[in-house]
Amino acid sequence: MDSPTQLLLPFMTSTGDETLSPSYYSGREIGTFKDSAKAPIHRWFRYPAGFSYKFVLESLDLFSVLPEDWIYDPFSGTGTTLVVAKQQGINAYGVEAHSFVHWVAKVKLNWDFEENILRKQIREFFEEVSEKTHGGKTFIDIEGVFPELVYKCYHPDDLKILYILREQILSYSTYPAVQDFLKLALTETLRGAALAGTGWPYISPRKNRGEAPPKDALGTFQKTVWQMMGDLQKTKERRCEIKNILGDSRQKQLLADEQVKLALTSPPYLNNYDYADRTRLETYFWGLARTWSDITRDYRDKLMIAATTQINRSKYNVETALSEEIKAIAPNIYQKLQTSILALALLRNQKGGKKAYDLMTALYFNDILAVLKETHRVLMPGGHFCLVLGDSAPYGVHVATDTLIGELAVALGFRHFDYYELRGRGEKWKENPQRHNVPLREGIVILKK
Ligand SMILES: C[S@@+](CC[C@H](N)C(=O)[O-])C[C@H]1O[C@@H](n2cnc3c(N)ncnc32)[C@H](O)[C@@H]1O
Repeated sequence: MDSPTQLLLPFMTSTGDETLSPSYYSGREIGTFKDSAKAPIHRWFRYPAGFSYKFVLESLDLFSVLPEDWIYDPFSGTGTTLVVAKQQGINAYGVEAHSFVHWVAKVKLNWDFEENILRKQIREFFEEVSEKTHGGKTFIDIEGVFPELVYKCYHPDDLKILYILREQILSYSTYPAVQDFLKLALTETLRGAALAGTGWPYISPRKNRGEAPPKDALGTFQKTVWQMMGDLQKTKERRCEIKNILGDSRQKQLLADEQVKLALTSPPYLNNYDYADRTRLETYFWGLARTWSDITRDYRDKLMIAATTQINRSKYNVETALSEEIKAIAPNIYQKLQTSILALALLRNQKGGKKAYDLMTALYFNDILAVLKETHRVLMPGGHFCLVLGDSAPYGVHVATDTLIGELAVALGFRHFDYYELRGRGEKWKENPQRHNVPLREGIVILKK
């Protein structure tokens, strides 16, 4: 193993003696979607789990990635890494297990439109819609069309408009790429046109009691479509190969050994963030799911189960859930983790919610091990793997996910790891008396092969 060296990303600093000043990081939110929410193409779908496109852009520069190189994102989500790669002309391979999120990335990656033709098609589409919406006065009955949650989110007039738009888009199958483009615009409109708070998971939607006026769903949709159209005009594609794979990054990928120069990602954190719940409004609206169990079967069950506590306990024994492979390659890490897992198993029995944080922790590290191994295989010697991630404290038991992953990676064969803290997390939950008060952080783990 090399002695640790300090890599300097442009969002990091050197004080001259290669020591990093921790205060420099505060305010840099490269782990969040803030920058991306304002950037062309990236803003086509606001995904709170997404990260900043600037992190990708700056990393390509720092690690001297060239056009013929390959980069890899094992949790590519809505395609932030892939979109930047396509803009820069770098070959990229991304894997996402949530089919709706993967579809969002697919649409964001298709810029192959003839501007005039698309403009004409959109105009015609709006003309047809206008005939059906009669200037906002619609008399259709949409009772029973959607699951209850969807009705809770909208003014009834807005929901009727959204329904008409949905039907119009679904019937527009002659041009699948245009259909997808409009479908994503309407998907993005769903949150903007909602009266209820739609910030779940974590925040349940408040009921709209009908006193607030409509939010002009049609206007919001039109604005979104024309903004997307404008983004397409601004975006230039460079020649490269982009592979947006719907799959499971715990499994072997269609990448050759040592093909990749740089891997970069933000994996699920060990924090019970439920990606399947995050897209509940969208999948309910499009009729892709109607119930919690549909969502579990079609989305949640395909993801790293360990990012949620929806775990079938009868399948596991908490004493032996953490993999023997971790024990064999990294006995110290195994010991540390096992201590936390058993503490969580005890705490669980004292808590009303009886959350499966114990199993979640064990299975999370088993899954991460699989991803680390596969990424190590595809990385070329000297290549780097950058992970933006946060630590965790389920039931107040601190699990240093970030540095433990770094140590595990080194035990597995990476030469060394560095960790850079970006910001503190969890501030907004401070007032919650149910919550622990362990300070949490978000940072970057950089592994070198
Ligand atoms: C933190 S998000 C990454 C978001 C991405 N950086 C973006 O900008 O959209 C983690 C993603 O991992 C996905 N995921 C969870 N388990 C997975 C698995 N086993 N294989 C591939 N993707 C998975 C989730 O659906 C989620 O979209």
